[in-house]
Amino acid sequence: MTLENIKLDIDYVRSQFPAFQDPLCKDWSFFENAGGSYVPKNVIDKLTEFMTSTKVQPYAEYPMSKMAGENMDKATELFANMINAKRNEILIGGSTSINLYVLSNALKDLIRPGDEVIVTNQDHEANISPWRRLKNCGAKIIEWKFNLNDHELKISDLEKLISAKTKILAVTHCSNIVGSVNNLKKITSIAHKNNIIVIGDGVSYAPHGFPNVKDLGVDFYTFSLYKTYGPHLALLYGKEEILKNLPNQNHEFLNGQYPYTINPGGPNQEELVSLIGIYDYFEGLYSHHFDNTNISILEKIEKINNLISIHEEEIANPILNYIHERNDLNLIGKNKITNKNRAPTISFYSNDKSSKEISNNLLKFNIATRNDNFYAWRCLKYLGIDVDDGVVRLSMTHYNNNIDTEKVIKALKNI
Ligand SMILES: Cc1ncc(COP(=O)(O)O)c(C=O)c1O
Repeated sequence: MTLENIKLDIDYVRSQFPAFQDPLCKDWSFFENAGGSYVPKNVIDKLTEFMTSTKVQPYAEYPMSKMAGENMDKATELFANMINAKRNEILIGGSTSINLYVLSNALKDLIRPGDEVIVTNQDHEANISPWRRLKNCGAKIIEWKFNLNDHELKISDLEKLISAKTKILAVTHCSNIVGSVNNLKKITSIAHKNNIIVIGDGVSYAPHGFPNVKDLGVDFYTFSLYKTYGPHLALLYGKEEILKNLPNQNHEFLNGQYPYTINPGGPNQEELVSLIGIYDYFEGLYSHHFDNTNISILEKIEKINNLISIHEEEIANPILNYIHERNDLNLIGKNKITNKNRAPTISFYSNDKSSKEISNNLLKFNIATRNDNFYAWRCLKYLGIDVDDGVVRLSMTHYNNNIDTEKVIKALKNI
């Protein structure tokens, strides 16, 4: 069987997520995935297991403690393998916003007065403000603006902004409003020719397929684990060569023990261990669809990513097309996903109704969504959208199905 013949078994997928059987959730079509995803049973089980048997201070020699520590290490190791990083290149923190503030603080010593830092106006504020604050160390902040016609960040514009003084480039892999996937690999290779450190925000990308960070080439990459089917944690990847030279922001005696030097304090232990459940879920997803189990987790992830992309195209394109065809609605970003060039994160606003009115109406059809600026307020401001009312965002992921798609189009027809 070729990959093209294999379709995501959506019933199997949904059977793995208890929310779809839960009395409070089961009648709702969930369109708030870019805000945070549901979790598979494996994650809940790992969390329960930890809290039941190993909720003690880890890394001592008694069995409960030993197992707690082993599982914490295992979770980090498995996630490193899934994104093609080394274990000591992974840092688990409370959120992407926290991780990026902590990282910018660690990188500030590299900045000399007059150095330049490039940020975009397409990013979530989490990957803008920490870098803009480097102006306090004398950095000049340069803004890479997206194109107002198609809402895309143009690499040709970036090339004009780069100078011999550019030290840092912070850019999203995929915007949580526009949805377009930026060519982070190409952006990074251009930046590296100019010795620029690249920080990629993968928060809106990773839920649709875990990245291969070595292939992207980025220096730092971050995503929120609570949007990739896990608990409220976030992962920061950093290249070892850079991490090991950053200042110690943790206890003095931990000098040199990167990556623990970056974050002042450890991660939430039970939640870290529950990440093993995400790995188990993806392993299960792979073996449900494919026979050849004799390949690495990275190769498995690549195959699952393809399955997910095909399914997401199928469920999102009719909605994109419908909103695009409506004269009274303004779709942000591309009106079709082709070859994973866009996430199924669909933002729009109306000419004659507030986004609040539309999202409240959608709720009446059991469509779980909301209106907001989603902290991408520079992006909305540049588009001339009221940042308080914001846009309506319908964000899907691989566990959404055709019923959700039909339901939302029907609801939109009634609004
Ligand atoms: C694209 C993007 N980047 C960063 C963040 C911030 O993530 P966190 O909530 O983990 O701080 C978000 C959150 O919605 C996001 O959508």
